[in-house]
Order: sequence, then C-alpha cells, then structure tokens
Amino acid sequence: MATDTESRHGMWSSRWLFILAAAGSAVGLGNIWKFPYLAGENGGGAFVLLYLVCIAFVGVPIMMAEVLLGREGRQSPINTMRQLTRQHNRSALWVLIGWAGVVAGFLILSYYVVIAGWSLFYIGQMASGALEGATGAQADALFNDFLADPWQMIMWQTIFMVLTVYIISRGVVKGIETAIRWFMPTLFVLLFVLLGYAVTSDGWAQGVDFMFGLDFASLDGNSVLVALGQAFFTLSLGMGAMMAYGAYVPNSAPIGSTVVIIALLDTVVAVAAGLVIFPIVFANGLETGQGPGLMFVTIPLAFGQMPLGIVFGTIFFVLVSFAAITSAISISEPALAYLVEEYNAKRSRVAISLGVICWVLGIGTVLSFNHWADVHIVGNMTYFDFVDYVSQNIMLPLGGMFIALFAGWALPKTVIGAQLGIDDGWLSVLWKIVCGIVAPVAVLIVFLGVLFG
Ligand code: PHE
Repeated sequence: MATDTESRHGMWSSRWLFILAAAGSAVGLGNIWKFPYLAGENGGGAFVLLYLVCIAFVGVPIMMAEVLLGREGRQSPINTMRQLTRQHNRSALWVLIGWAGVVAGFLILSYYVVIAGWSLFYIGQMASGALEGATGAQADALFNDFLADPWQMIMWQTIFMVLTVYIISRGVVKGIETAIRWFMPTLFVLLFVLLGYAVTSDGWAQGVDFMFGLDFASLDGNSVLVALGQAFFTLSLGMGAMMAYGAYVPNSAPIGSTVVIIALLDTVVAVAAGLVIFPIVFANGLETGQGPGLMFVTIPLAFGQMPLGIVFGTIFFVLVSFAAITSAISISEPALAYLVEEYNAKRSRVAISLGVICWVLGIGTVLSFNHWADVHIVGNMTYFDFVDYVSQNIMLPLGGMFIALFAGWALPKTVIGAQLGIDDGWLSVLWKIVCGIVAPVAVLIVFLGVLFG
C-alpha cells in the first residue's frame, strides 16, 4: 500500500482531474507542431501506426510505472526515489533518476517557454490582420524578422514565463487544477472547431490521405527511432513529470485504465492536429515537409489566405498557447516539489526562483536564432539545438529506461500488486515482461540508435 495517503502539496480533486492534468502535460508543442510534420516526413499512415505501437508498448507501461512510483512515494520524484530505495533496501544510485529528471526539466522548460512565446506573438499577429492576404515571402519575412529580434522574443518569453510561474506558485489545486479546468475543455472545443473548418476545406480528402495512407515503403530504421522518441516526448515521460503528478493521485483511482485514457487523449489530439493542419496546407497548395517552419510560416500564411482566416488563425495560436502552458506547468513540478520539501520553502518563492533560472537559461535559446546563430557547441549544433538534443534524445530515454527497470525489477511484487490492483497471477508476469523487459529494451535500442545512428 502507499505509505501516505495524501501528498503535502495537495491532491487532485478526482481521478478525472488527474486525467485532465496529465493530458494537459502530454498535449503540447509535441502534438500540434512536431507530430504532424514528423508524420508527413515519415510516410503518413504507416508512421502513425508505428507511433501507436510505441505509445502502447513503451509509453503506456512507462507512464504506469511513473504514476505508480509517484503514488507510492507521495513526494517529489527525488524524495520518492529516496524513500523507496531506503524502504526496500535498494541502491541509492536509483535516486539519480530523480536528479536527472530535475536537470532535464530545467533544460526543457528553458527552451519550451521560448517557443511557446512565439505562439503568443502569433496570436497578436493573426488577430491584428497583419497576415491577411500575405504572400509566402511576406509570411517568411515576418517569421525571420521576429527570429532576428532578440528583444521581441525575450518579451514574449518573459510573458509566457510569468504566466507559468503565476499558475504554479498558486499550488497544485488552486493553481494547476484551476488552469486545467479552464484550458483543457477550451482546448478540446477549439480543436473541434478547427477540425470542422478543416473538414469543409478543399484539402480535406488529400489531408486525410496524407495522414492515413499506409505507405510502408517510406518507412526505414530511422522512422522507428523517430516514432519511439516522439512517443516519449509527447507523453511527458522520462523526467519525472508524470511521477510528480502521480503523487497527487487519489488511492482509489485505477492506474492502468487511467493511463490508457491519458495516452488516448494525447494521441487523439496529435492526430486531430494533423487533420487540421494538412487539409489547410493542401487547400493552399503549400509545402508539407517544412519542419519547424510548418506551424509558424505555413499555417499563418494559409489562414491569411482564407475567408475568416483571421478568426480561425487566432484560434489556432490560442490553442497552441493553451496546450503549451499546461505542459510547461508540469515540466517544473518535479523540481518545484523537491525544493519545497527540502527547504520547507514557500511554493511561490520557489516558483519565482525556478522561473528566473529557466528564464536566464532560455536567453541562450533566444540568442541561438540571432546573435549566437553561428556559435556551435558540438558539431554544428547551436546552444538551442544542443540543449534540445541532450534533454530530449539522451536524458528522457535514459530516465524512462531506468524508471521502467526500477518498477519492473527493483520494487517488490507486493508493492506493484497493491498499486496496480493485480494479484500474483498472469497479470503480474505480464507486468514484468512489458515494464521490465520490452519497454527498457526498446528504449535502449532507440537510445543507441540516436547516439550511433
Ligand atoms: N509532452 C509535452 C509536449 O508534447 C512536452 C513535455 C515533455 C512535457 C516532458 C513534460 C515533460 O509538448
């Protein structure tokens, strides 16, 4: 059984609020900006299928592991791991999972806030009609001028960071839960409205074909790595975000089905985002494989050329910003909860200090697009590329692998059984196989693939 029944940081009001909060963490820039273009580059439907397999066999078990560890410890990931390793006589080295997560969180949040700031900037640009009837060159120039101006970027980064700090400083229930209660339903409604708009556009059939046409020939070894890596990032796994949120889950909530619902919601949003973006792109005869530019150049351009595009384009970037903020607040939770526990500090003070540190780290990302564009940390990676690469491709997979190994092998069967509500029968064997073997081995393959691929 869980050692404590309540966390000192607060508890989700219900199982459904946890589902919304975790879905809020999962649904973010990874779904709306990254997933569509990755799917496009990797053969559409065949890639989507591969991604679903990764979500089911790696993502779901690792998320279950994070949530059950968090609920068992009822503290920040670092202190949860401390307590569990002491209680069950395991090596203190496992606590490194918690520390690595905190470091990864600082790195990810520092650049996540910068990119999220871009979407805030675009809300204003769309709403003011600046892109109405713009040509490709004009949309391109707007984005490039924005990237070239560090002060502008810093301003939007600051606004987004202040919003994030404000929400997290108010606490788990008053801050995070209140934001989630508003933002998540709104996000689903906006997505639905945009989907309706896409369905009626000329490019709908072509967009659907692009997303679901099973073209296995375009898949290669690298697509498998990309699909698994994306499954990881999009589900917020490997750095303790789900472990931290798991600490606030009521004991009565069944972990298995809850996690499946979260993964489904995340997947539905990613697929829906693709179904919003591609028909619009096709309807306007634009390029699909633009990578990072897809959302910030093609989408404003496409909306600028359409009837009512001003309204729907504004809605689009509001949607992206909501999705990003509910992810940003979860990225900071492992560090925030730890500092509150360790120094008995006021949550608001810790939130502000954390925000300031990430803000300063984020300046490096801002400069990577202008003054430091030619400063290369390793190979030809800018500061931003480097921070993104190390956190996402190295720290998250490694963290996830060790979390799965800990939950699969180091924790006693009785603890797992009580948390998952399963007995010693075949379900417990299945857990060992999936969480102890399949998930970590798959991650190891990805990790090695990324390093040596
Ligand atoms: N899942 C978020 C997204 O898709 C990003 C994230 C990563 C959030 C890690 C929390 C932890 O944008």
